[in-house]
Formats: sequence, C-alpha cells, structure tokens
Amino acid sequence: MMDLVQRLCQSLPARFGRVGAWLLLPLAVLGTVVVVECGRIPSLLSATRLPTPIHFDQGLTAFDPEDVKPWTNVKCGKCHAREFKDWRSSQHAAAGTNENFKVEYLYTGGDGRAQQCMNCHAPINPYGHLLPTQEAEGIEQVFKDPPSWLADGVDCLSCHLRDGKVLGVHVTSQGLAAHPMRKTPELSTAAFCAGCHQFGFKTANLPDNYHGQLQQASLAEFLDYRKAGGAEQSCHDCHLNDHRMEGGYTDSVLKTALELELGAVWQPGSRQLEIVVTLTTQNVGHRVPGGELFRFLTLDTQVTDARGRPLLPRTPSGSGEELAGPEASSRWPKRETMRRRIGEYEHGMKSKAQPIPDTRLLPDSRRRFVYHVQIADPDVVVPVRVRSELWYHLLDREKAREIGHAGDFPLKRLLLTRTVSPDISP
Ligand code: HEC
Ligand code: HEC
Ligand code: HEC
Ligand code: HEC
Ligand code: HEC
Repeated sequence: MMDLVQRLCQSLPARFGRVGAWLLLPLAVLGTVVVVECGRIPSLLSATRLPTPIHFDQGLTAFDPEDVKPWTNVKCGKCHAREFKDWRSSQHAAAGTNENFKVEYLYTGGDGRAQQCMNCHAPINPYGHLLPTQEAEGIEQVFKDPPSWLADGVDCLSCHLRDGKVLGVHVTSQGLAAHPMRKTPELSTAAFCAGCHQFGFKTANLPDNYHGQLQQASLAEFLDYRKAGGAEQSCHDCHLNDHRMEGGYTDSVLKTALELELGAVWQPGSRQLEIVVTLTTQNVGHRVPGGELFRFLTLDTQVTDARGRPLLPRTPSGSGEELAGPEASSRWPKRETMRRRIGEYEHGMKSKAQPIPDTRLLPDSRRRFVYHVQIADPDVVVPVRVRSELWYHLLDREKAREIGHAGDFPLKRLLLTRTVSPDISP
C-alpha cells in the first residue's frame, strides 16, 4: 500500500491531467487518501523528528547547542561581513551581557535566575534540560567569564539556524552552494519577532502558565496601530534597515518618534503665565516607549527668572523619580511621567483591584500639558524663562538600587529640550 501510494504521489500531476470528468468523484476520495499519505511519507520514510520550529515560544523552549554545530557566528560573518558588523554592535548581541540584564538576572529577590530568561536573551544556552523557571547552577561564574553563547546574546544562529539549515527568505543557488537552506518567509513577519517580544508573567511553580497582563506587548500594540490605519506590514519596515535593529538605546531612533513643542504666554492684564507643552509621536508602530515595561519617559518643565533662578517652589531633591496626587499639582518643576506600571490588577493577583492607567504615548498621537503659573513677586528679573526637558529612562533609580545596580551605567538620557521667554512681561 505504502509503495503504491508513494508511486501515485510521484506521478500524480501527469495522471490527473488525463482523467475524464466521470472519474472525478472516486478520484477525489482517493485523492484525499493520497494527500494524507503523501504528507506522512517523508516523515515515515526518514523516521526522524519534525523540523524545529522557526518561531520562538516566549521563552519556554531552549535550543540544543549541539543542533547548531559546527556553525559559529564568526563563520557566518566570514561571508556576511556587513550583517555581522551591524549585529555585533546591536542590543541583540548584547542581550545576554548588558548591565541591566545581568544585574536583574542575578538578583536573588525576584523572578530572575530562571532558565526562561536565557531562552530569549541568549537562546543557544546549554540549559535546555531545566524547566523554564529553574535556576542554572553556577550562574554567577558564567557571568564572570561569559562563554560565547552568553556573550553573543541573540545571534545569527538563534534567528537563522534550524536542524543544520540556514533559514532565509530567499533561497538561491549561490546560497545553497554555501550552506543547506530552508526557505522561510515567516522570517519577514511580525510574529517571528513576537516570539520573544511579546510575553506574559510566568507562574513560578507552573512553568508554562502565565498570569496577568502581557509584560511586553509589542505585537498587540502593533496590531492596534495597524487597525488605526498604520501602513507598515511588520516590525521589519522600521527596525530592519540593517542588523543593528535599533530601538530605545539609540537617540536618533527615539527622536524620529518624538517631537516636543513649548509655548508660554502672559494672560492679558494679569501676572499669570499660561504654559503649553505638547508631545507628538510619529514614525512609530507601538506605544512609546515600547518594549520592556522598565522603560519610561519624563517631561520636566521649569520656570526661572532671567538669571536662571527657579521662580517656583522646588521639589525636595532625593524624592524619587515621580510625584503623585496634590503634591504633583503644586510643585515645580512640573513632572509628567509616561509609563506603564504593574499593580495587583495588572499582575493578575486581584481582579477587583484598581487598574493603573498606562500613560505611555500612543503612536501618531498628540498630548498637551497646560500649566497656569502665578508670578506673585513684583521684583522678578524679567524676561521669565520657561524650559522643558524630555528624558528617556531605561530603568528607574529605585528599581536599579533594589536589584543592586552598580550605578555607573547610564539609566536615563536627555532627549529633547525647548526653552522660551514669553515676550510681553507684566
Ligand atoms: C561560504 C560563505 C557563506 C557562509 C559561511 C555563510 N553564508 Fe549565508 N549565504 C552565502 C551566499 C553566497 C548566499 C546567497 C546570497 C545571494 O543569493 O545573493 C547566502 C545566503 C544567506 C541567506 C539568505 C539571504 C536572503 O536574501 O534571504 C541567509 C539568511 C544567510 N545566508 C545566513 C547565513 C548564516 C546565518 C550563516 C552562518 C550560519 C551563513 N549564512 C554562512 C554565503 C555564506
Ligand atoms: C533577531 C533575529 C536576527 C538575528 C540575530 C540575525 N538575523 Fe539575519 N535576518 C533576520 C531577519 C528577520 C531577516 C530579514 C528577513 C526579510 O527579508 O524580511 C534577516 C536577513 C538576513 C540576511 C539577508 C540579507 C539582509 O541583510 O537582509 C542575511 C544574509 C542575514 N540575515 C544574515 C545574518 C547573520 C550573518 C547574522 C549574524 C551576524 C544575522 N543575520 C543575525 C533576523 C536576524
Ligand atoms: C530570540 C529572541 C528575540 C527575537 C527572535 C527577536 N528579538 Fe529583538 N530583542 C530581544 C532581546 C532579549 C532584546 C533586549 C536586548 C537588551 O537590551 O538586553 C531585544 C531588543 C530589541 C530591540 C531594542 C533595541 C534597542 O536598541 O533598544 C529591537 C528594536 C528589537 N529587539 C527588534 C526586533 C525585531 C524587529 C525582531 C524580529 C525581526 C526581533 N527583535 C527578534 C530578543 C529577540
Ligand atoms: C512605524 C515604525 C515602527 C514599527 C512598525 C515598529 N516599531 Fe518598534 N520602535 C520604533 C521606534 C521609532 C522606536 C523608538 C521609540 C520607542 O522606544 O518606543 C521603537 C522602539 C522599539 C523597541 C525598544 C523600546 C524601548 O524603548 O526599549 C522595541 C523592543 C521595538 N520597537 C520592537 C518592535 C516590534 C517587535 C515591532 C513589531 C511587532 C515594532 N517594534 C514595530 C518604530 C517602529
Ligand atoms: C519571551 C522573551 C523574554 C523572556 C522570557 C525574558 N525577556 Fe527580558 N527582554 C526581552 C526583550 C524582547 C527585551 C527588550 C525590550 C526592549 O528593548 O524594550 C527584554 C529586556 C529586558 C531587560 C532590559 C534590558 C536593558 O537593556 O535595559 C531586562 C533587565 C530583562 N529583559 C530581564 C529579564 C529577566 C531577568 C528575565 C527572566 C526573569 C527575562 N528578561 C525574560 C525578552 C524576554
């Protein structure tokens, strides 16, 4: 039977062409059998395992490092020098060793130290035998002297190698002459990136269970953007000009997405100043900041006299990054925070808890902040000066301190500033 079906499989197109219309019905039945059997034959004959999936599964499964041998990233780089150079300077290459990851991973008080972190940050790790939530032994030592699987983070092999074959969108004869290949149009899709860029909180004692809202939601946010009219087909349209795949670490990328405007006018016949600060987003396919929930933006606005002395009560220093409640509305400098916070509701611990609003910016949006300032002192040295600063934060100071950050790694960067001197003084 197998033999017959196999031979039928090989000759199917030719025979099918010659059949008369009256034969179609029984052939359709036979056809179903043949299609089913044809699908099975290669796997039955070769009796090996199924091809390794291309997509990552939110950190659940590790690679077997044996699978990628004898390839190394350096070998790929011998022929693909441009991709290698760009990747080497990317955050993907740094994903296993960058300071923020290392510190949080080694922190003993949280959910770090889990094998699953490595499945996304350094997929060619040797810990596939562990459960996703288990800790690998001797991990401190591994970070002290990082082996190549850690030092290379998310590498060529992670994205491009399965079962000894190079995954590519285009399979050409030159490509096949250089290495075995598997044609994979899936590489061009947002779903490929989302295998690592969208995931939930894992439950410690149920490794493949998730709780609460998504921890990173890049794909969901991108789909919302598309629904609202965004034209891009995938993450690649913005992030794959080259293999640096830049994002929040690069000021120029952040600046393509953000615009800051500042205006200040005296209200007619009064000593009141109206300040309007506007943040606009463009060229971005998700919320800003996207990605990791540690990221946030702060927008500080300050009013000074002509000599640069602050005119309004200053926030006591050392009070952390954020202000809330009535404190915030009366204090200067003004601080607006665009951030997603995870409380009991978001964490899925208490469904009746109060949700915390996600204040990050939507793509193609505009947000205005209006402040009214009474300059009571008649002896103020005019012209008054108003200045706004937009800061990008990788991680907040409190969290950094909690997890034992050395402190010399830059946690925030000044992105944009605007200064105006309202021209008609009182
Ligand atoms: C001996 C040189 C050589 C080595 C080593 C090599 N490649 Fe290639 N690769 C090629 C050539 C040649 C092509 C075909 C280019 C073309 O058709 O324009 C190709 C094609 C590709 C493509 C498909 C390009 C496309 O347009 O879709 C990918 C992806 C790729 N290689 C990745 C890798 C990776 C990853 C490694 C290491 C595991 C690697 N290559 C190692 C020479 C090499
Ligand atoms: C984070 C995943 C990722 C990593 C890491 C990665 N690539 Fe790619 N690579 C892709 C994707 C996605 C494409 C583009 C697919 C498409 O055309 O839409 C691509 C395309 C390519 C191509 C086709 C030509 C081009 O530049 O677009 C080559 C060659 C290639 N990669 C080689 C490499 C090599 C060599 C490395 C390591 C130095 C590497 N890639 C690392 C995901 C990755
Ligand atoms: C194997 C998991 C994995 C895959 C697949 C993956 N990424 Fe990443 N990506 C990461 C990790 C981990 C980081 C964080 C690196 C860090 O800062 O520690 C990251 C960071 C990034 C960043 C931020 C870079 C920066 O400069 O701040 C961008 C943008 C990005 N990835 C885009 C993509 C795109 C586009 C794709 C699909 C073509 C993709 N990634 C596929 C794991 C992955
Ligand atoms: C229309 C262009 C565009 C599209 C589409 C897009 N991005 Fe971005 N992405 C940006 C810009 C601009 C930034 C920098 C602003 C920011 O950090 O949010 C960015 C930042 C990022 C970051 C870093 C966030 C941070 O601050 O740490 C990640 C990760 C990322 N994108 C992943 C993705 C993924 C995954 C997709 C697809 C599901 C995607 N992006 C689609 C433009 C885009
Ligand atoms: C499903 C994949 C995945 C898993 C699992 C995962 N991460 Fe990440 N992680 C990412 C991606 C993608 C980014 C980059 C997002 C961005 O750039 O905004 C990231 C970013 C980070 C960052 C910020 C790095 C920086 O450059 O500032 C830290 C820290 C981090 N992860 C720690 C961890 C720890 C600890 C674990 C395990 C408890 C973990 N991650 C598990 C995908 C993952």
